[in-house]
Amino acid sequence: MRKTILIVIIAMTVAGMTTVGTGCKKDTTDPAPDTSGLVRFIVPQGWPQPYYTFQNNELTQEGFELGRKLFYDVRLSRDNAISCASCHTQFSAFSHLDHPLSHGIDGLFGTRNAQGVFNMAWKPSFFWDGGVVNLENQPINPIENPVEMDEKITDVVAELGALPEYKPMFKSAFGDETVNSQRIFKALAQFMATLVSADSKYDKWTRGETGGEMTAQELNGLELFRTKCATCHKEPLFSDYTFRNNGLTPDGSLNDTGRAHITNMPGDRYKFMVPSLRNVDLTRPYMHDGRFNTLDAVLEHYRTGVVPTDNIDDVLKGGIAMTDEEKADIIAFLKTLTDQTFIKDKRFAEP
Ligand code: HEC
Ligand code: HEC
Repeated sequence: MRKTILIVIIAMTVAGMTTVGTGCKKDTTDPAPDTSGLVRFIVPQGWPQPYYTFQNNELTQEGFELGRKLFYDVRLSRDNAISCASCHTQFSAFSHLDHPLSHGIDGLFGTRNAQGVFNMAWKPSFFWDGGVVNLENQPINPIENPVEMDEKITDVVAELGALPEYKPMFKSAFGDETVNSQRIFKALAQFMATLVSADSKYDKWTRGETGGEMTAQELNGLELFRTKCATCHKEPLFSDYTFRNNGLTPDGSLNDTGRAHITNMPGDRYKFMVPSLRNVDLTRPYMHDGRFNTLDAVLEHYRTGVVPTDNIDDVLKGGIAMTDEEKADIIAFLKTLTDQTFIKDKRFAEP
């Protein structure tokens, strides 16, 4: 029988953490690292309500474990060589480190940079252009994409259904041994939605916890960030999940019009979804096409590289002025957004 061990805590009280946003030090200890292996979905203190609420897809330990196995299984691809985790590795916060454009089956390249898969439950839509609105419908795209996994979902269902190891897992997750696409997608959604990253130094600072001591430079960087960047990269998720043009020169060879690719509206040309900056020090290269390799290059873009193409955001007309020292402070702050607890969490590692 399937046992529900889900703890969806939408309340804001997690042992010992009761302050938010003050940055003042409180006499609390770090929450003990989770060694139980049990999956939980907890809305971090001070965060908005998630979009994805596991409605009609109750989170269970068994559903999560199945989703994890699927995420790491190369048999989801045509040549049995590429898994979701090939392009979304845990040590880079489930992004594709060092690959400007994602690198899939037969060594083929896609046209976009793979985002980090974390805090997905808060995203109203997915991909750089928001082309998919439901987390449960997302996996069909990489599986059937000819330059990613190039497989037919019907073939995946047949292949997994024939493997003895999967049958008991589908049974304990969904009640019987039937393997179908809907169950594959639901299990993957359970895994992805529980990838919550909220334990960076910055987070510890907001909660007044040990390990959250910020340097004067980092705090100055945060202040600068709040005046220059936070309109779009809004706390606590570090994105407002709107579509904006941040002034990149369009790449003629890719001809990616971003949001307009979905809506076909001229007013959406060159707009891309504002990415979260959590774990940003781990997710290089940067931007939808991975054109920048360093945070310094990103900041230099905002300072001197913004071009006024169609629909450039008002906030960025003329670029963002900053001194070298301010630039260094902002980068120091961005590095406090790295969540070591998350990238080392064994529950999310290859089973
Ligand atoms: C060949 C590399 C590759 C593989 C394999 C791959 N992805 Fe991705 N993934 C990408 C790229 C590139 C994007 C961004 C695509 C875009 O915006 O058009 C992406 C985006 C995503 C997103 C959206 C993130 C966001 O912030 O909107 C999710 C979720 C995701 N992938 C999950 C998966 C799952 C699940 C699998 C396996 C079934 C998978 N990916 C396999 C490259 C890959
Ligand atoms: C007007 C909205 C806006 C403002 C203001 C803004 N950004 Fe962005 N930022 C974006 C958008 C949109 C993207 C994605 C653009 C793309 O890939 O086409 C982005 C991308 C980035 C990326 C790349 C992240 C990744 O995962 O690829 C970084 C880093 C970044 N911004 C940092 C900053 C910093 C630091 C500031 C302040 C100095 C700032 N941004 C100000 C909208 C904005």
